[in-house]
Amino acid sequence: AAKPPRHFLSISELSPTELNTLVNNATTYKHSALQQTFPLRNALSNKTIALIFSKLSTRTRVSTEGAIAALGGHPMFLGKNDIQLGVNETLHDTSVVISSMVSGIVARVGPHSDIANLAKYSSVPVLNGLCDTYHPMQAIADFATMTQAFVTQADKLKGLKIAWVGDANNVLYDMCIAARKLGVEMAVATPKGYEIPAKIKEEVDAAGPGTIFETNTPEEAVKGANIIVTDTWISMGQESEKQKRLQAFAGYQVTEELAKRGGAADDWKFMHCLPRHQEEVSDEVFFGPRSLVFPEAQNRLYSAISVLEAFLVNGGEVKSAS
Ligand code: CP
Ligand code: NVA
Repeated sequence: AAKPPRHFLSISELSPTELNTLVNNATTYKHSALQQTFPLRNALSNKTIALIFSKLSTRTRVSTEGAIAALGGHPMFLGKNDIQLGVNETLHDTSVVISSMVSGIVARVGPHSDIANLAKYSSVPVLNGLCDTYHPMQAIADFATMTQAFVTQADKLKGLKIAWVGDANNVLYDMCIAARKLGVEMAVATPKGYEIPAKIKEEVDAAGPGTIFETNTPEEAVKGANIIVTDTWISMGQESEKQKRLQAFAGYQVTEELAKRGGAADDWKFMHCLPRHQEEVSDEVFFGPRSLVFPEAQNRLYSAISVLEAFLVNGGEVKSAS
């Protein structure tokens, strides 16, 4: 049988060097695209990439579809109302059939086991466009955004401190794993009962030296922080917990006052993967000069190009673009 393809389900699967390269390549392609010297225009020509999305998406869909088009490929979007999956057909049969006709799959699913099974039965690379546990393409874009704001390449981010204030979720987990691999310090404030699960903590700790400082006090987490990050308090699939969560997260809104009280670095920056709701961050911060949220969203396109090149053009080999 043919060698199984290399999938991309979580940042954990990357070596520190591969992570550094994927992040830096995103920035390199951002510059070359802006300068119209983009080198990959035909890299996926005559190839179809399926996008199997069982949840809503703006950034992940637009960035991956756009990236596939930029590489000369054909993106085939398959939303949850378009195909038999989940209603009339199993994940196994769907994966075997779709992968027999396309060159790659980007998938957005609920449980991590869904993307793991999709990958297990797929004859082509499967890239995770978000599951309940991971969001690796977001992490690549986030570290590219930090690099562009602070330094020249990702492995020079050492010495910066990231504070996460809010819910422990998929975006946080891959950010923690990436931070560990790049040697960036992280502090995480979540309300009692919403901490990082023990199993994920083990995975984060195994990703590299250091510790993630965890607290139930937002002020403690933001102390000395260069970057303050949050995300929605109610992730997709948690809609029925809305009232309970809004109560549990009271006092966790990212504001100028919180950063000041906690003693964040004077020039701290704000990040959020979006979509954003007002409860988790004030308008003043979100629309203010500290906010990196819109470049962060745009960087999803260049991060998608970086990831597609490595996994779909170069067969899972991560090579430096510069
Ligand atoms: N950040 C992000 O993944 O956004 P979408 O849910 O819109 O894709
Ligand atoms: N944590 C959010 C991220 C959305 C991009 C969710 O899973 O809904």
